[in-house]
This record gives sequence, C-alpha cells and structure tokens, in this order.
Amino acid sequence: MDKILILKGNIIFTRTADRFEVYQDSYIVSVDGKVEGIYKVLPEKYINCTVDDYGGRLIIPGFVDLHLHAAQFLQCGIGMTKQLLEWLNDYTFNLEKEFQNVEFAKEVYTKFADKLVANGTLRACIFASSSTKGTEVLFEILKEKGIGAYIGKVNMDRNAPDFMIETTEESIKGTEYLIEKYKDEKLVKPIITPRFAPTSTDELLEKLGELAKKYVLPVQSHLSENIDEINWVRELYPDSNHYSDVYNKHLLFGQTPTVMAHAIYLEKDEIELVKRNSVTLVHCPDSNINVRSGIMPLRKYLNIGLSIGLGSDIAGGHKIALNEAIVRTIQLSKLLSMDQPEYEPLSVSESFYLGTKGGGTFFGKTGSFEEGYFFDALVIEDNSIIADRYGLEDRLERFLYVGDDRNICARYVEGNKLK
Ligand code: GUN
Ligand code: FE
Repeated sequence: MDKILILKGNIIFTRTADRFEVYQDSYIVSVDGKVEGIYKVLPEKYINCTVDDYGGRLIIPGFVDLHLHAAQFLQCGIGMTKQLLEWLNDYTFNLEKEFQNVEFAKEVYTKFADKLVANGTLRACIFASSSTKGTEVLFEILKEKGIGAYIGKVNMDRNAPDFMIETTEESIKGTEYLIEKYKDEKLVKPIITPRFAPTSTDELLEKLGELAKKYVLPVQSHLSENIDEINWVRELYPDSNHYSDVYNKHLLFGQTPTVMAHAIYLEKDEIELVKRNSVTLVHCPDSNINVRSGIMPLRKYLNIGLSIGLGSDIAGGHKIALNEAIVRTIQLSKLLSMDQPEYEPLSVSESFYLGTKGGGTFFGKTGSFEEGYFFDALVIEDNSIIADRYGLEDRLERFLYVGDDRNICARYVEGNKLK
C-alpha cells in the first residue's frame, strides 16, 4: 500500500535559483517518500488521510551539506589563525588520529550526528578519518539517524605524519571493506575519498579510480583551495597540466559523480574540464575566510553554468548549521562585488537554492518540492510577533540569518519523520 504523508503550512522552496516558490496555507502530499503535489484545497482522494497541521509555520526543503569532516567536529573554532597546511599539521591530523579508538569515535560521532540533524542537514557528503574502524562507527551512527549521507574513509599514503598515513594496500583494503559492507544501503552510502592530491601517491589515486569505476561510486576530494597547496601539487605532479588533471588522469574527476570542495583558483582549462565532466563544486564560505584561503569566484562559476552546492567544511568552517553557510555565501559575494563590480552579489533565493536543490541534486531528486522529488523537509517555527508582521519570504530570510536548531520543530527524510 502507498505510504501517504500530508503536511499543512506555509510552503517555500526554490525550483530555480532566481525566485522562491511560495504556497501560503497549503498542503504538501508525499506518496512513498516522494512529493506528489502541493494543494490549496486537499483533493478528494486524500480527504480521509491524517494531516500534520503546522499552522502558520514554514515548510522548507532540508539542507544539503556537500562538504564536511566529521572527525574534525571537536576542532570547530580552534586554530583559526592558521592557514591550511599549517592548520592541518598543527591541529587536524592530531585530532583525526584519535578516531582509531572506536570508543572515542562513538562518543564524538554521536555528538556530531546529533548536531548535524538538529540543525536541519538531511543530506551530507562527509569525510570521516583514515581509520577504517572509526569510519564504520560513523556509518552505523548515521544509519540510525535516518538522514542521507555519503561517507568516505579518508585515503592518505604520503606527506602526513606517520601516525596518520597507511600503506597504499592498507588504505585500499579498508576502503573496499567498507564499500562491500555498505554499498547496498539506501540512505548512507560509501564515497571514494582521497584527502587531496598532496597526501596521495599516483598509485593510490590510480587504485581509487579503479574502485570508483568497479563499484560505480561517487568521488569527493579537495581542489585548488590555497596557493601554497597549489604550488605543492605542481611540484609533486610535474607531468600534470593542472591540479584538476591529477584527479582526471586517475578517473576521479567526473567519470563517476564527483564533488570537489573549494576550487578557488581554477585555471581556464580547469573550469572547462569541470564543466565538461559535470563535476560539482562546493563553495565553503566560512572555510574560505577562516583559514584565509581566498574567495571562490562563485558568480563567475554560476554564469558559466557550473554545478555548485554549499559546504560547512567543518572544521575549516566553524558552524555546522547550513543556514550559516547560506548567509555567509551572500555576505562573501557582497564583499567580492565591492572589489569586482562585475560579480553581482547573490540574492537570498540564489543562496538558498545552492544549500538545498543545488547540492541536493548530487543525491538525486532532493532539495526541492517539485513533483517526484524525495520529500526531505524541515518545519520552521518563528515567534508570533514576527509571523504576524512579516511575509513568508522575509520570515525565511530572518530564519536563515538569526535562526538556529531551536527554530526547527520537525524533520522529514523521504517522507519519514525523524525522531
Ligand atoms: N585539504 C586537505 N585536507 C583538508 C581538510 O581537512 N580541510 C580543508 N579545508 N582542506 C583540506
Ligand atoms: Fe575540507
């Protein structure tokens, strides 16, 4: 029998980035986890179904975080005066090594998952650590939560402290073990995750590319984030045309669905390759600022038609809540436009789109309430003085800017209400 779910409230989402679709006081019907329609008056056939009536509250698509590191959760807001390579060496690797300890992994990943779900992220592309056992713990915890995620064991076989790297064989063996164990999961699935080019040998990248191809798995990594990093990649891979080419040569650049975080300093040829291979780029505004990497030329990429989502990049970014990333995206685009007036700042609907449908597309049909999309939704409550005084778009903007998990009163993934 069909599983029918009906919510009533003020429904807002973005079909296209340029404007919000707004349905005041309406019903949204989900059948078998997918949106069937939005109605002002409930059709006859649903008249005997129960309705979750949320009154004047807002109903919006769940947030999608296309890039964050679960194993860096404790480090949020720490080491923020460093730049990338120093930050990794002085803080990050020391913390990530702790996830070899399963008890530690359980404790921290549970806190991480609670916080992620509380803040309305219902789909996420997540880096765990290089520990296979630790990563397995994260799979189990997120399965329990009921959200959608791609989780990657982080592959590294050089240029990091000894306690962090594995041999190429160990790294591949652990990765394949997790793939075999979780590849048929419905919501929480494996993703191939070379940390970034500098901590990978050619051989590791080659074998990861083979795994991606063999199991038809998506890929995530970091790309062109920081000037020192880019120079280092040039030294390590003198035969590659550019940073993107390192991944592309090894079938890790769009040969299967691929997300690349940051992509701040792409050369012209790289941008063309990103577009040709339909690689999705992830804008991580807080991280761009915190580790002083630079600012992704987002408007330029949007004009070119690249596929883009948003990432908190915990712990390069300090806030796990994706509404913060949506706001910071707008703020950074304004700063960039002061210097470069040809780059128009993003509107609220454009940034909201990136944090919902833009990133959601990586998970299939999610991030929107169009017919046939997975019903992934948040119910937002604001106070009655605000609700009485402002229109729905203003209220959504206000939630994005000043709201937090306390304003989210219900969460649904594929038509199931989360506990
Ligand atoms: N590049 C390689 N590793 C990392 C990481 O952990 N965080 C960020 N922001 N960039 C990276
Ligand atoms: Fe990152």
